Amino acid sequence: MPCLKEQVLDLLKKGYPEFVSGEVICRALGVSRTAVWKHIQALRSAGYDIEAVPHAGYRLISVPDRLYPGEITRGLNTSFIGQQVYYYDRLESTNRTARELAGRGVAGGSLVVAEEQAGGRGRMGRSWFSPYGCGLWFSVILYPEVNPLHAPPLTMLAAVAAARALRRTAGVKAGIKWPNDLLVNDKKICGILTELSAEMERVNYLIMGMGLNVNIAAHQFPPEIRETATSVLRETGRRSSRVALLQDLLAELEYWYLRWQREGFAPVLDCWKELSVTLGRPVRVFTMKESWEGWAEDVDTDGSLLLRLPGGEYKKVVSGEVSL
Ligand code: BTN
Repeated sequence: MPCLKEQVLDLLKKGYPEFVSGEVICRALGVSRTAVWKHIQALRSAGYDIEAVPHAGYRLISVPDRLYPGEITRGLNTSFIGQQVYYYDRLESTNRTARELAGRGVAGGSLVVAEEQAGGRGRMGRSWFSPYGCGLWFSVILYPEVNPLHAPPLTMLAAVAAARALRRTAGVKAGIKWPNDLLVNDKKICGILTELSAEMERVNYLIMGMGLNVNIAAHQFPPEIRETATSVLRETGRRSSRVALLQDLLAELEYWYLRWQREGFAPVLDCWKELSVTLGRPVRVFTMKESWEGWAEDVDTDGSLLLRLPGGEYKKVVSGEVSL
């Protein structure tokens, strides 16, 4: 049951763009006029623009560009992913907070989201640029019942979900660079950092951390990534609704996660290949210690990259970074 403030907001949204009388709100929620006024003031402090006119009532004018839990869950088409939201204005890293919450056993599918990260973390020990209010910086907590050896493909599943949501909701033609970077016109728009806590034969929890550049203008990127990173705004010239994009992404994530549980990795991999911008191209692959040049021939059933080396032999790369 949503709290009274959320219920007042629901009534204003249902009435939009008309006025909803104070009397109607009082009766619907069984509260006094003073209580309604208090909740209207709280909504205004949270950034909702609400007009109040004597004898007419209250009218919602605009909703703030914030990732408030109520905005995310209202109209969210999932059964468990994103149904529980831990929202923060500013965090060190959503992955870090998600690990703490997972250690306390919060519900599977819980979402940790922040408007800004002070220490956003990327793959290979890099940092992740996460400025205030213009991206999607979030982590999903999952408890997959699998052997830890079978968990890595979940990161490719997250890439499939993000690429599909970006294409459908934001209208940008995102492609996947092995294993899970999302590119538009060869520039990175989304990165995924999956972290695992496991014992020999079981996963304790898995954190799927995703960073998606939404309303970041070109000049806002630090010089060192300005030429290699992009955003939805940069690609389309328009600001996009972060809430709508996140809702679609969470629904995609749940669809593919449930499918993976029922049918295994094969359907995810088929879709990953359709969205790939890596396969059938010459690439360079880096690991922490080595690098190889070759032809990105295929991806194996476990998600490894099959690289054809200049001499014709094949190299199976389990983890690493590709440059195109
Ligand atoms: C990459 O290097 O490509 C992965 C970047 C992952 C960034 C996201 S933002 C939300 C979550 N919290 C973090 O600290 N990192 C991930």
